[in-house]
Amino acid sequence: MQDSLFANVQELPRDPILGLTEAFVADKAPHRVNLGVGVYQDENGKVPLLACVKQAEEALLSKTAPHTYVPIDGLPAYDSAVAQMVFSDSADLAKVATIQALGGTGALKLGAELLRVISPNAKVWISDPSWENHRALFSAAGFAVETYPYYGADGELDFAGLVKTLAAIPAGDIVLLHACCHNPTGLDLSHDQWRQIAKIVRERGLTPFLDTAYMGFAEGLEADAFSVRLFASDGGPLFVSFSFSKSLSLYGERVGALSVLTASAAERARVLSQLKRIARITYSSPPGHGAASAALVLADPALRKQWDDELGGMRERIKKMRKLLAEKLSERLPGRDFSYIVRQNGMFSYSRLTAAQAIALREKYAVYALDSGRICVAALNEKNIDYVSECVAKVMTEV
Ligand code: LMR
Repeated sequence: MQDSLFANVQELPRDPILGLTEAFVADKAPHRVNLGVGVYQDENGKVPLLACVKQAEEALLSKTAPHTYVPIDGLPAYDSAVAQMVFSDSADLAKVATIQALGGTGALKLGAELLRVISPNAKVWISDPSWENHRALFSAAGFAVETYPYYGADGELDFAGLVKTLAAIPAGDIVLLHACCHNPTGLDLSHDQWRQIAKIVRERGLTPFLDTAYMGFAEGLEADAFSVRLFASDGGPLFVSFSFSKSLSLYGERVGALSVLTASAAERARVLSQLKRIARITYSSPPGHGAASAALVLADPALRKQWDDELGGMRERIKKMRKLLAEKLSERLPGRDFSYIVRQNGMFSYSRLTAAQAIALREKYAVYALDSGRICVAALNEKNIDYVSECVAKVMTEV
């Protein structure tokens, strides 16, 4: 009798982010709180269905269109609306190849596979720390992944370290940057710092790849596009991955895009043909519903205005929760400074919990944070914040 084909298959550890949600779902503690995954929840702890999306979906439903295939590179109206929104007039869109992608992760994957074709020997540089999936995704695509300093020992941005490392990266390597709302630290570059980084990247001939999954959550859609438009305005090259998961609360619909700014319309056509091949051999063509809804929200001025308002509401609620959390922790642990929580941007706070503290928080109190100490502030509300701050304060003193 032969051994099973799978006898030697190794069991992998759970995903550091989505695996935590699996553990949370299995946890039966009535007071459990999931601060792991980056999902916005409203004041009642519910993932919202945005009114702009609901209206767009109703309009689509009333048309009862058949479910035929979407083109390999996505819905044309969606692709051009996304490119217009992200780049505005910072780039000549005739030189930008945009392809609908399966969320931000799908966009990164398409970009990684294209870069394997173009720059197979390049290294990919990500921030230390970065979103857990960045290293995994680019390594799986066959790249050596290195890190540049980002989060200093003092809990602030290590800009000097970042500049020093970037300035020594060999020409042709790829630098992954977070366009805004850095995941996991919430620490963003100032405009002046972005200009300095862009200058180094161009002078050294590096390929910038901007991950733009949280546009709209720092200061608003226009303001948060600053870094992308800065890199686009000198003509590229530039890779931009984009996601509507958070900003339109379309997580499960997998609505994202990859844009590649090239040097000419002819280059754009060649790059797009490569991207289409990668999409075709991976999933053939993308799903239609979420992208059609997003395209309608972007095209209809009333829905677009409604989206701005709703996104603004989410952004402001997160900022309010940051303030409340910092206040409640300061009350419980007088003498400690929690102002960093308020200064960070986006959905996350790099809370300065150690791994041991994060594990204790989960095992003793059913409050789920990443082992890195990252917590999703967008999952806090007035009902759970007292419990969360009480438990965080306890582990910060006891563990
Ligand atoms: C996160 O960082 O929690 C989100 O981007 C969700 C994910 O896919 O990891």
